[in-house]
Amino acid sequence: MSIKRYLVTSALPYANGPIHIGHVAGAYLPADIYVRYLRAKGREVIYICGSDEYGTAITETARKLGQTPLEVADRFHAVIRDGFAKLGISFDNFSRTTRPVHTAITQEFFLKLYHQGLLETRTTEQLFDPEVGKFLADRQIRGTCNYCGHLDAAGDQCEKCGKAIDPLELIAPRSALSGAALERRETTHYYFPFEQFQPWLSDYIHSREGWRPQVVGFCQGYFGEGLRARPVTRDLDWGIPVPLPGHEGKVLYVWFDAPIGYISSTKEWAEQSGQPEKWREYWGDHEGTKLVHFIGKDNTIFHALLFPAWCHAHGDYVVATDVPANEFLNLEGQKFSTSRNHAIWLHEVLERWPADYLRYYLATILPETADSDWKWADFKERINSELNDNLGNFAQRTVKFIAQYLDGQVPPLGPLTAADQELLDRTAALAGEVGALLEAYEFKRAIRHLFSLGTAANGYFQQQQPWKLKADRERCGTVLAVCAQVCRALAVCCAPFLPAAAQALWCRLGQSGQVIDQPWDAAAAPLPVGQALPPDPQPIFWKVSDEQIAAEVARLGAPAPEPAMSEPTPATPEPPAAPPAVAAPEGVALVTYEQFRATQLRTATVTAAERIPKADKLLKLQLDVGGQPRQILAGIAPWFEPEALVGQTIIIVANLEPRKLRGEVSEGMLLAATADDVPVLLTTARPVPSGLEVR
Ligand code: MF3
Ligand code: ZN
Repeated sequence: MSIKRYLVTSALPYANGPIHIGHVAGAYLPADIYVRYLRAKGREVIYICGSDEYGTAITETARKLGQTPLEVADRFHAVIRDGFAKLGISFDNFSRTTRPVHTAITQEFFLKLYHQGLLETRTTEQLFDPEVGKFLADRQIRGTCNYCGHLDAAGDQCEKCGKAIDPLELIAPRSALSGAALERRETTHYYFPFEQFQPWLSDYIHSREGWRPQVVGFCQGYFGEGLRARPVTRDLDWGIPVPLPGHEGKVLYVWFDAPIGYISSTKEWAEQSGQPEKWREYWGDHEGTKLVHFIGKDNTIFHALLFPAWCHAHGDYVVATDVPANEFLNLEGQKFSTSRNHAIWLHEVLERWPADYLRYYLATILPETADSDWKWADFKERINSELNDNLGNFAQRTVKFIAQYLDGQVPPLGPLTAADQELLDRTAALAGEVGALLEAYEFKRAIRHLFSLGTAANGYFQQQQPWKLKADRERCGTVLAVCAQVCRALAVCCAPFLPAAAQALWCRLGQSGQVIDQPWDAAAAPLPVGQALPPDPQPIFWKVSDEQIAAEVARLGAPAPEPAMSEPTPATPEPPAAPPAVAAPEGVALVTYEQFRATQLRTATVTAAERIPKADKLLKLQLDVGGQPRQILAGIAPWFEPEALVGQTIIIVANLEPRKLRGEVSEGMLLAATADDVPVLLTTARPVPSGLEVR
C-alpha cells in the first residue's frame, strides 16, 4: 500500500466517570505522540476520538446518581474533554456518540448489513424484571452462583469464585434494580455471523506486518475456539434505536455503535472544517489510508476482529492497518480501582502538575509489551534526574553561557575536534532514529533514545569545560555552538512528547514561531550564526520535593470523594447576608469571597512576544500556563521591548472570556500596576512554575 494519509484513533472513553492516568497510558498519550510526530513529518493525518455515551455503564451510573443518562454523559463528556485538552492531547475532533451524525451513520451501517441478508434473528430466553418491565443487562442481575453457591453473585461474574457466569444458569436470579424475582421470557435479536468471517479475518490478521505479538496471539486464540455469531441488538431504552419498524424497545448494542463513532466523528470533523466530503477520502480509500487504532488490551477483540469484520462486510470503509494495543498500567503495585479511589484522576492531577511532567513520566513507563507501574517515588526521581538534571540543565547551561561569554549570540563553528564531530553526527541522526522508533510504536525506546543524547551532551559539556575557555573565544564559541545545535534538535524531537517544554526551549534559543511547526527532518538544521538569545533565561523545569510526593501518596485511597464522581449536592438556600464587618473603600462595592474566587489568577511564563503590525499599543504574548500554551494581547507595547518579556513569570487572569482584537485572539489578561502612567508588571518574588494559582 502506498500511504497517502493517516487516520489515527484513540478508544472512545465511556462518559460515565472521569478518566485516570491508566487510561491515558493505554490509548491516548501514545496516539498523541504519534500524530504530533506525523504532523511534523508533513504527513496528512487526522486524530479522531469522542465519548462513548450509550451502554449500561452509563445507565447504571445515572441510576446511582439519580440523574438521566444524558445528564451523566453531558457532565463527564466535558470533564474528559477538558482533561485531555489540558494534557495537550491534540485531537482533530472529540465527538459524542449521542450526536445525530452518529445515529445516522450507525443506523445506515446496520441497515446495509441487514439488506445484504447478513443479520440473522434468533429468539432466546432472557431474564425479565416484571416490576420494572424490562429485560435486564447482565450486570443488573444477581443470584446464587451455580458453581460455588455464593448467594450474591453478579449476573456476569461471581465475585467469590471468579467464574464467568451465564445469567440463565444463576440459581434464583433477582433484579439488582427492584429486588424482584426474575422471569425467563423470550426475546428476539439480530446476530452478526462471525463464523462466516473467520477465514477472511484469519487472512487479515496473518497478513498484517509488525503487529505486537500479544495482539496476534489474542486473535489466534479466538480462531482456535472458532468465532461465533454475536447479537448486535439489546432490549434497552438507552441506545440507538434499531432502524426497522416494529422494534420498539430495542437498541443497537453499544459495542456495535461505539467503534462506528470513529467514522461519525470523522464526518463531523469534515463538516466543521468546511470540507464536508473529506471524511470519505479517509474512510473510503482502501489503498491510501493507514488506519491506526490505539487502545488498551481489553478492547482488542472489538478493534482487531469485530469492527474490521463489520467494516469489511459493509464494504465502504477501510479496516485497521495497525492496532497497537497496550497492556495495563498499575498504580503503586496495585490495579487502579475507582471504588477504593486507588487512582490518579486526570482532571485532578493536572491541577497540581504541569502536563509535561505527567507526559514525560508516563512516556517512560508505557505498558507497551507488559503491564507497568506508576510509582510516585519513581516519578520524582525521573523528573528530577532526567527532566531537570539531564535536559533542563544542559539547555540552561548552554543558553546561560552563550549569554555570559558570547554576548548572547549564537557563535559560529570553528575547526571541529573529533568530540565535536561525534556529537554533531549523533545530533544529525537523532530525528531519523527517533522517527523510526515512533513509526514502529516504540514510544518508550524513542524517548529513552532522545534523552540519551541529552546525557551525551551533558558529558560533552563537562569534558569541554567551556568555563575555562573564556580566553579562547573561538574555541569557547565552537563548543557552545555545538551545544546550541544539540538543543535545537532536542527541542524539535521532544515536541511530540513534551509540547510545552519543547516550545520553552525553542524560545530560549531565540527562535520565533512554534516548534511544533518545524519540519521534523530539519531538526538538526543549523541555528543562524549571530542569532540573539533572550537575556536572563529562566530554567524550564523545577524539582519535585519529597513533600509533594508524600501528599500524592496520601491521596491514594483517601476517602475524600473524587468531586466529579460524588453525588450532586442539592442547592442550599443562601444564608441571610451578615452585615459587612469592614466598610468598603469609598464608592467601591464589596465583593464576597466567592465573587473574588470566581476570578482565576495564575502564574504564566512568557515564551514568546511580538509586536502586532499596525497596532502600536499591543503586544502579542505566547504564554505557558502549567504546560498549556495560551496567547494574550496586552496594551503595553509603548513601554516594553518584546524580547525583554520572554522568560518572565507574570500573573494573568486565566478565566477571562477570550476576546478578538485586531484579528487576534486574547485568552486572558496580564496584571500590572500603573506607576506614573507606566505599567509595571506583577511578577513573583522568586521563580515559580507557571500555572500556579494566585490568591
Ligand atoms: N468505551 C470503551 C471503553 O472505555 C471503549 C470504546 S472504543 C470504541 O472500554 F470502539 F468504541 F471506540
Ligand atoms: Zn461462585
